[in-house]
Amino acid sequence: MLLELNNVEVVYSDVILVLKGVSLQVDSGQIVALLGANGAGKTTTLKAISGLLRSEDGRITSGGIQFQGATIHTEEPQNLVRKGLVQVVEGRKILPHMTVEQNLLVGSKVLKSRAERQQMLEKVYGYFPKLVNMRTRVSG
Ligand SMILES: Nc1ncnc2c1ncn2[C@@H]1O[C@H](COP(=O)(O)OP(=O)(O)OP(=O)(O)O)[C@@H](O)[C@H]1O
Ligand SMILES: [Mg+2]
Repeated sequence: MLLELNNVEVVYSDVILVLKGVSLQVDSGQIVALLGANGAGKTTTLKAISGLLRSEDGRITSGGIQFQGATIHTEEPQNLVRKGLVQVVEGRKILPHMTVEQNLLVGSKVLKSRAERQQMLEKVYGYFPKLVNMRTRVSG
């Protein structure tokens, strides 16, 4: 199994119990949709997986999360990104005072070499060719 949640419980600010007994499995090559009413805890589930809970004073208080066979619920988000586990946050947020290309380079921060970052930029410009002419434009 690529990703596995077992009986995950999440509490915000030490008192607000939001997730209780969430279990799910995602196999390699699979696409899984998580459905639920507003406030049901979909985003919280994703943040529990990606490690972004901590920046909101949220905590996994029981249960476990495994990615590629390793326990990850104590892992820092930046380490998970390096392992290929990335949360695409909702709301299309960008850094408005920076240029289009600078925004893309922020996303490439985990790549070590300049050559790798350049390759990544070319790949993105290949997907979205209109961005090439906008690369020096302030993105906001
Ligand atoms: N940082 C936080 N601190 C306290 N409570 C929070 C926090 N973030 C979310 N919650 C609460 O946790 C519950 C689940 O919220 P969550 O955002 O995970 O739901 P959702 O399923 O993604 O909802 P939506 O469909 O509106 O996006 C809600 O009751 C929400 O008010
Ligand atoms: Mg949500």
